[in-house]
Amino acid sequence: MLVSAKEMMQKAREGHYAVGQFNINNLEWTKSILQVAQEMNSPVILGVSEGAGKYMTGFKTVAAMVKTMDETLGITVPVALHLDHGTYDGAKACIEAGFTSIMFDGSALPIDENVAKTTELRQICNEKGISLEAEVGAIGGEEDGVVGMGECADPDECRRVADLGVDMLAAGIGNIHGVYPENWPGLSFETLEKIVEKVPDMPLVLHGGTGIPSEQVKKAIPMGVSKVNVNTECQLAFAKATREYIENGKDKEGKGFDPRKLLAPGCEGIKEVVREKIEMFGSKDRA
Ligand code: 13P
Repeated sequence: MLVSAKEMMQKAREGHYAVGQFNINNLEWTKSILQVAQEMNSPVILGVSEGAGKYMTGFKTVAAMVKTMDETLGITVPVALHLDHGTYDGAKACIEAGFTSIMFDGSALPIDENVAKTTELRQICNEKGISLEAEVGAIGGEEDGVVGMGECADPDECRRVADLGVDMLAAGIGNIHGVYPENWPGLSFETLEKIVEKVPDMPLVLHGGTGIPSEQVKKAIPMGVSKVNVNTECQLAFAKATREYIENGKDKEGKGFDPRKLLAPGCEGIKEVVREKIEMFGSKDRA
């Protein structure tokens, strides 16, 4: 059931669990994630970066695929189709295409411009019943060519952006996208605490969910993290399973080259990651 992420965020914040955002790249990703969310009776957010949107030939294609697949698979758990790290123009295109949730990433802009653009998008999203995520303090690592420095967000800026009435707020607490370097000091719980003091009821979003030790994720959730984004870990699991299949010569056995067979182990890899994260985030049976 395609819905805005507003209600699932509020329920997660109140219930001290988090909803997973899993990024999609194609049909296999989408199907695998939807099936596991349904099997585990968990709400779920499908994240689409602008690069992935382009890869899938545009946001309209993505929205049509997700909407139809949700119906034909008989998915009854709440599913939000969410633009990940959107630009202002990307946000408008996704609203037009039928996305149910938008992230406007104005974190690289001066705070006044971030506030102005977030305010405008808030109004449009409100009219259409679309949820909105804003970002304060760039998330480090590399994603679609956007490179940040692993900052910690300024709690006062968080308050300012939260007051615009966004539904969820991404605030850097030392998290970065992609695989964490060996010398990564871990999440800054001190920053998280200061942010929560300023925005006590705001569902916070933890980007860069790949590879954060589970104790740290489980500590952050009851403090105020209501959404955790995972992308790279599904990609790694898919690649690993596919490599094993080919290295074991399975594509040369019978019709093992058939894409439906060739891609099946990778899909199982994605499903395993999603199952594990839904357990970790505590959203199982919260649909
Ligand atoms: P990872 O690729 O590190 O899991 O981060 C995903 C993310 O934050 C998407 O916005």
